[in-house]
Amino acid sequence: MLETVNKVHDESRQGEAYAPAAEQDMTLAKKFYIESYGCQMNFNDSEIVASILQQEGYGATRNFEEADLVLLNTCSIREKAEQTVRKRLTEFRKFKRDKPGLLVGVLGCMAERLKSKFLDEEKLVDMVVGPDAYRTLPALISEAETGQKSINVLLSREETYADISPVRLDSNGITAFVSIMRGCNNMCSFCVVPFTRGRERSRDPLSIEAEARDLFERGYREVTLLGQNVDSYYYVNDDNTETINFANLLERVALISPLLRVRFSTSHPKDITDEVLHTMAKHENICKYIHLPVQSGSTRILQLMNRTYTREWYIKKVERIREILPECALSTDIIVGFCTETEEDHKDSMDMMEFARYDLAYMFAYSERPGTLAARRYQDDIPEDVKKRRLTEIVTIHRVHSLEAMQRDVGKTLKVLIEGESKRSKDDLFGRTDQNKVVVFPRENYAKGQYVMVKVHDCTAGTLLGTAVEFLG
Ligand code: SAH
Ligand code: SF4
Ligand code: F3S
Repeated sequence: MLETVNKVHDESRQGEAYAPAAEQDMTLAKKFYIESYGCQMNFNDSEIVASILQQEGYGATRNFEEADLVLLNTCSIREKAEQTVRKRLTEFRKFKRDKPGLLVGVLGCMAERLKSKFLDEEKLVDMVVGPDAYRTLPALISEAETGQKSINVLLSREETYADISPVRLDSNGITAFVSIMRGCNNMCSFCVVPFTRGRERSRDPLSIEAEARDLFERGYREVTLLGQNVDSYYYVNDDNTETINFANLLERVALISPLLRVRFSTSHPKDITDEVLHTMAKHENICKYIHLPVQSGSTRILQLMNRTYTREWYIKKVERIREILPECALSTDIIVGFCTETEEDHKDSMDMMEFARYDLAYMFAYSERPGTLAARRYQDDIPEDVKKRRLTEIVTIHRVHSLEAMQRDVGKTLKVLIEGESKRSKDDLFGRTDQNKVVVFPRENYAKGQYVMVKVHDCTAGTLLGTAVEFLG
């Protein structure tokens, strides 16, 4: 998204098309092409969709021109995200004119939000499938093939796709995402997610553990546990004899192997507990990195946003994290220009940035989303130019902090998990530190999937540069 300044945000991978090498079996009768937009959970959902389609005999392709089925897994989080998808769908509609029989389907959050509008008013697509309806894709495809309206946007209270083994799309073979829950029960007033993803539900821990173990056995060395609000993970087993919270789950996954790194995202400041922080401290392989979206530094705005914490409460949480995990990296999401935001409120947000000195921040201008509490209750009254100026101010502050965070590591020797070849040079490899910073260093005889100690001698705004000094295995 244009609003983000830092590299890897959810939207930074917008519109990637996937086709895993293993799926490019020319003998398969039909081919699908999928593009994903939005957060990591959506990307992970595309891997579930790929698995369902594969069962139906579909092979994946990276080239939409040879596809029989084109799918867009969409995001509704900000207006611009939807505009991008609309543009893309219009392109596919044109393409469809020359290729009768081609089916185009819209999946994900925009499908859920706009429902049959896609089929009725806009006639942009043949199929509309909400995030909890992917199991019905084969039936929906059959319906669409006969020219019927094909739609399923029912939200579920149970669906977690626990038993479906995602087909890892475009994977580096080293890092993978594992969804641990779906939906969201928080009602942040600006946010469309509770409407597009439904009620929160946690996935069976045994299936999560099995998926992570299987990944490890296949050579993966890092899993990121995903949920809109991972700290409210809560699972009660069938006979009510055991309850599992997020700290318990984190520990179970960490115990699979000391060689498997564990990350997680996202934490809601109101829910992250000392138990989680102590679990992180106890296990070396749980990465010391917390994404703790603040959204605003003003208590008044936080209340309007329905975030349920105050500025002071957030500050205390950050202090607690630094007390228990002194080396922990922190990142955030922040919104400028929310309804009624004054210059004073904005200053509170800038002060919060100064206080927390985030390693990474995703910064957004408020975008009103139809149907949300804020859209119904408050006026989107901050002019675009003011939003833009405030965003630039926040971004300017953050740039100083992110560069400082990089410079802090120069001179240190850090443990790095190698993820692959550097984009810039075949002679270099790249990997990440525990704190999720990218490190580039000469290849020598190292290979991806290995852990090495790297002595950092320089940095750019986004990359540490170093030399491997010790092989760890
Ligand atoms: N579940 C996560 C975030 C999901 S959306 C959490 O609670 O933190 C990712 C980010 O998009 C949010 O943290 C928020 O900063 C931003 N966002 C959500 N709705 C928005 C809107 N209407 N306008 C601008 N930014 C928004
Ligand atoms: Fe949206 Fe809030 Fe839920 Fe995050 S916690 S998904 S911001 S409602
Ligand atoms: Fe977007 Fe839906 Fe994720 S709105 S951010 S794809 S949950």
